[in-house]
Amino acid sequence: MADTLSITSGSERAELPITEGSVRATDLRAIPTPDGPLTSFDPGFVNTASCHSSITYIDGDAGILEYRGYPVDQLADGSTHLEVAHLLMFGELPTASELEAWENEINTHRFVHENVGQIIESFRYDAHPMAKLMSGVASMQTFYPSARRIEDPESRRRNVVRLIAKMPTLAAWSYRHSIGRHRVYPNDELNYVENFLAMLFQSQQRVYRPDPRVTRAMEVLFILHADHEQNCSTNAVRAVASAGNDLYTSAGAGVGALFGPLHGGANEAVLRMLREIGHVDNVGEFLEGVKNGRAKLMGFGHRVYKNYDPRAKVIKRSTEEVFEVTGINPLLEIAVELERIALNEEYFVKRRLYPNVDFYSGLIYEALRFPPEMFTVLFAVPRTVGWCAQWLEGVTDPEQKIMRPKQIYTGHRARTFVPMDERDA
Ligand code: CMC
Repeated sequence: MADTLSITSGSERAELPITEGSVRATDLRAIPTPDGPLTSFDPGFVNTASCHSSITYIDGDAGILEYRGYPVDQLADGSTHLEVAHLLMFGELPTASELEAWENEINTHRFVHENVGQIIESFRYDAHPMAKLMSGVASMQTFYPSARRIEDPESRRRNVVRLIAKMPTLAAWSYRHSIGRHRVYPNDELNYVENFLAMLFQSQQRVYRPDPRVTRAMEVLFILHADHEQNCSTNAVRAVASAGNDLYTSAGAGVGALFGPLHGGANEAVLRMLREIGHVDNVGEFLEGVKNGRAKLMGFGHRVYKNYDPRAKVIKRSTEEVFEVTGINPLLEIAVELERIALNEEYFVKRRLYPNVDFYSGLIYEALRFPPEMFTVLFAVPRTVGWCAQWLEGVTDPEQKIMRPKQIYTGHRARTFVPMDERDA
């Protein structure tokens, strides 16, 4: 017998079919209540599925993250970011010749229109690079207006390739402008990650040659950040796309959502927190403040993971490799002590709060001498692949509708307008 959910409201009783571990929220409408047809209330979509997706699988209790069925740690060990991008976009790991064609396709689109560079440079030098990036991404729609033809598969593919290819250029230019340096143009000799690092760090006199261990660590970070199913920024991308929007308009919204300190901005917040703690001796006092609600332990906790974030495990390894190149970061000592105490404190154990991806990524970025404002930009570049895959899945999904949640209204009703001279002072 098929599983059902029985609901009783007054004299009404209904059996709702349970399929794929869920009930259809629209089936609830058949049940009348004194306040109108039954609806579900779920601020923050804590237990609401908004789509079918075959891109990324997460089991938060078990600490599992898979892209198209492949565990993320295996991908981080054995592949490159563009290989993973191919997997996320098209569903399969590429063969050698497919990868070569895909890399060539991306590489030929890395240059960005000069006017976009000027848009980024028209901001004040101290504007946050994420805000500049958001504007840069949104402005791309004006350079490729045919991206609005989202019903055209060729147009969709061309713009996905463009955005994945140009994102490192936009991100690097946002950064160079912040530090008052000239733009560096893409270099065809370099791969995706090397080229990004060169556009960030190249000086006029010397050719920038990153240590291969640093390039590999960045590659791993890129893979780990590539997608994370229906997180806040991906939901923003899908919501904006659901109104029939092009990739650039939708991804611009994604960059904005990622900027928030509860989402991608957490890596920047972790660094600021570690600096504020200042010394390993102050860790106990800081954690007392967290338990008393005076502060949050940034880089801890996750909506989905109620176990160690599988990405944090891999990043911890990369952290050690990067420190072999850069030397030990004194903030690491504080981070390790925070983690050690927090994992044993009742407050954190009871709430199942574990380190997330941002707890260690900020330390790597700090060791590579990125200013904290750049950390979320370094998250946005690889996450663009996920946004593109999810955007594509959303706009081609016949089941999708414009996203328009309901509300439970709690305000006044049907009041009579009061003219100004009759209102109480
Ligand atoms: N420090 C202290 N207490 C916390 C923390 C934290 N980092 N995270 C959650 N809690 C407490 C929270 O106060 C609540 O306690 P109580 O039950 O007594 O009210 C309980 O744990 C449950 O938390 P919640 O706020 O209901 O959980 P949520 O699923 O709504 O929030 C979160 C998830 C990630 C926004 C939250 O854990 C948080 O703010 N963490 C710090 C920011 C952070 O590191 N964000 C990066 C997430 S990973 C990167 C990404 O994918 O974006």
